[in-house]
Amino acid sequence: MASTNPPDRHLVLIGVGPGIGRSVACLFASKRYNNVTLIARRAEQLKVEKAEVEATAKSQYIKVNTYAVDVADSAALVDALGNAEATFGKPECVYYNAARVVPSQLLTHDVREIEYDFKLTVSALYTTAQWAMPLLVELAKTDVSAKPTLVVTGGVLHVEPEPDLFSLSLVKAAQRNLVQSLALAYGSSGVRIGMILVAGTVGPDEKVRNPTNIAEEAWKWFSSDEESPFEVLI
Ligand SMILES: NC(=O)c1ccc[n+]([C@@H]2O[C@H](COP(=O)([O-])OP(=O)(O)OC[C@H]3O[C@@H](n4cnc5c(N)ncnc54)[C@H](OP(=O)(O)O)[C@@H]3O)[C@@H](O)[C@H]2O)c1
Repeated sequence: MASTNPPDRHLVLIGVGPGIGRSVACLFASKRYNNVTLIARRAEQLKVEKAEVEATAKSQYIKVNTYAVDVADSAALVDALGNAEATFGKPECVYYNAARVVPSQLLTHDVREIEYDFKLTVSALYTTAQWAMPLLVELAKTDVSAKPTLVVTGGVLHVEPEPDLFSLSLVKAAQRNLVQSLALAYGSSGVRIGMILVAGTVGPDEKVRNPTNIAEEAWKWFSSDEESPFEVLI
């Protein structure tokens, strides 16, 4: 009997790098996604991330497209998302992972840096949601086998701010609030919306908070047939 191609499924991962972003992209591609869009600023690094996903997915059907975009530039982000949709169709899973995890000292940090962090963490997620939500809602209505999802990586800084990371703490609080509003507004639409909260430093040698384990927890949350909790704490 002739084998049939798996259905096309499109993952959009915004903020891919060698940590959580890569592990999520690789795991989700190996489990479900043959069409993968990766977004980050550095074109050279995106080549590395694309090769990692292709090698891990080990599927003849895998296609990975990359867009070198600073998501704080909303026009460039809208262009990239439009191109991703034109190339691979509606996304099924949009994973928002971009953030600047760097120190910021209270009262000496330049206010423009705070504003940049807000754009990168909150405004760009808002722009992403404006594009993604109608597509995800439509997918929920038209494909019973689909798992339309918007998921965001967070931490605990939104409730436990650190003065040495105060800019990230501020914008992560706003981001958590935005995701919660989306979950409240779209709770009955069939779209899964939630956060993977990482309660500490991520590193390959961390026993629990290593990228592989975080991606596995994200996959468990995503793939569960039960009603998912809004957030998972790792
Ligand atoms: N690392 C931690 O200790 C830690 C702890 C708790 C929570 N988190 C959360 O985990 C997420 C990040 O995961 P990760 O730290 O493991 O990093 P990662 O997945 O290795 O990489 C994230 C990537 O986001 C991209 N990015 C940053 N700013 C961007 C921008 N303006 N436009 C487009 N892409 C951008 C960067 O690539 P380019 O430089 O190429 O743009 C970066 O490599 C964040 O949401 C963070 O808040 C991290």
